Amino acid sequence: MHVALADSAKPLDPLELASHGPVIPVIVIERAEHAVPMARALFEGGIRVLEVTLRTPAALAAIAAIAQSVPDAIVGAGTVRSGADARAALAAGARFAVSPGWSPRVAAACREIGLALLPGVATASEVMLATEEGFRFLKFFPAVAAGGTAMLKAWGSVFADVAFCPTGGITAASAPDYLALANVKVVGGSWLTPPDALAAADWPRVERLAREAASLKAK
Ligand code: 3PG
Repeated sequence: MHVALADSAKPLDPLELASHGPVIPVIVIERAEHAVPMARALFEGGIRVLEVTLRTPAALAAIAAIAQSVPDAIVGAGTVRSGADARAALAAGARFAVSPGWSPRVAAACREIGLALLPGVATASEVMLATEEGFRFLKFFPAVAAGGTAMLKAWGSVFADVAFCPTGGITAASAPDYLALANVKVVGGSWLTPPDALAAADWPRVERLAREAASLKAK
C-alpha cells in the first residue's frame, strides 16, 4: 500500500502539523484549477502542510484536487466556522481543520467525525477553554493585532504546556522572531501565495516563496 494512503487512514495528531517545517501557508484560492499546480509548487519548495481556507467557492474543490493529486502533501481546511464546514472539509479530503476562533461546537464536531483541529484563540480565557477540552496546540489569531510576540511570551510561563501557531499579519521578515519563542514551532501566513501570483499562475514565484519560507529559522 502507498504510504500516503496508510497515513490518511488514521486521524492526524494536530501537533504533527508543527513537525513538517516552520511555515503553514494560509491559502485563499479563487480558481480550483490552480489548486494542483499551486500545491506542487509549494511542495517542491519544501512545504508539506497546506491550509486552504473555506473563504471562496473554489475551496472545497481545491482541497479535493490536492488530496487526490498531491498525496504527499497534508492538506487541511482553514476558516472552519461550523460543524457543517468541518464535515464538508472532511468529505473533500481535508486531513485537518483550522478555526479562526474557539468554538465548542466546532471542537465537538471535529471530535465526532475524527478530524484533527487546530483551534484559534486570541485571549487567555480562550486558551483556558481550549485546554479544558484537551487541546494543547492552538492557533494564535490574529497574532500581530492581538499582541504579537509579547503576548506569546506572557503566555509561555502561564501556559507552559501549550504550543501556538501564530497567524495573522506575519511575514517572512517577522516569522523568525516568532520562531525564536519556545512555545512556537510553526507560524501561518498568506505571503507564500500572493493573490497576484495565483491570478497569474506564476508557480515559479510560489515555489521561490515556499523555498524561502521552508528555510526560515529562529532569529
Ligand atoms: C489566517 O486566516 O490565518 C489569516 O488570514 C492569515 O493572515 P495573513 O493573511 O495576515 O497572513
